[in-house]
Amino acid sequence: MAHHSRQLILLLLFKLQNSNMEKEFTIRYKLIQEQHLAAVEQNLYDEAVAALEKSYSPYSNFKVACSILLENGAVVSGANQEVASYPVSLCAEGVALSAASSLHPGKGIQAMFIVTKNSTGIIRETVAPCGVCRQRIVEYETRQGKSISIYLLANTSNVVVFNSAKDLLPFAFDSHHLPIKNV
Ligand code: THU
Repeated sequence: MAHHSRQLILLLLFKLQNSNMEKEFTIRYKLIQEQHLAAVEQNLYDEAVAALEKSYSPYSNFKVACSILLENGAVVSGANQEVASYPVSLCAEGVALSAASSLHPGKGIQAMFIVTKNSTGIIRETVAPCGVCRQRIVEYETRQGKSISIYLLANTSNVVVFNSAKDLLPFAFDSHHLPIKNV
């Protein structure tokens, strides 16, 4: 009897150790109709569209612009800056983030609006930031201890809003994984 129950326990332990648990998570985002944007959001959108003119993209002919709303209400924008040695080029998001933290040091970032344009005009589909830029935005979120809303255009006349860069970069690597504290 004792022998049997020991066998049963071992079997259960084996099953527990070997049961693969399937997990899932959900990414929530909002779809807002363009005409329903709040004034501050509309302004951020307009600033991003205007910043497309700052793009220097003779190699890709793909303009990207990013406007940033800071906690003090200031708006800063940037556009992609290409280099003949292609990988050296700067993405719009990185340019805008660097401009924001240089012009308004220590001021938190509330939101960013990213728009793209090719030879046919502003692209009305969801063009999301590249992986490197997602990592950059996560860094700013970690720095300020607050998430950043990311606005992108969608098809038709909708705008997509993510609450955080982490929604675009699940399982993100950040400073918490490093031994250095008090950064
Ligand atoms: N680009 C950005 O500015 N942001 C992104 O998130 C994706 C790509 C730029 C880099 C390059 O100048 C052009 O788009 C084509 O890759």
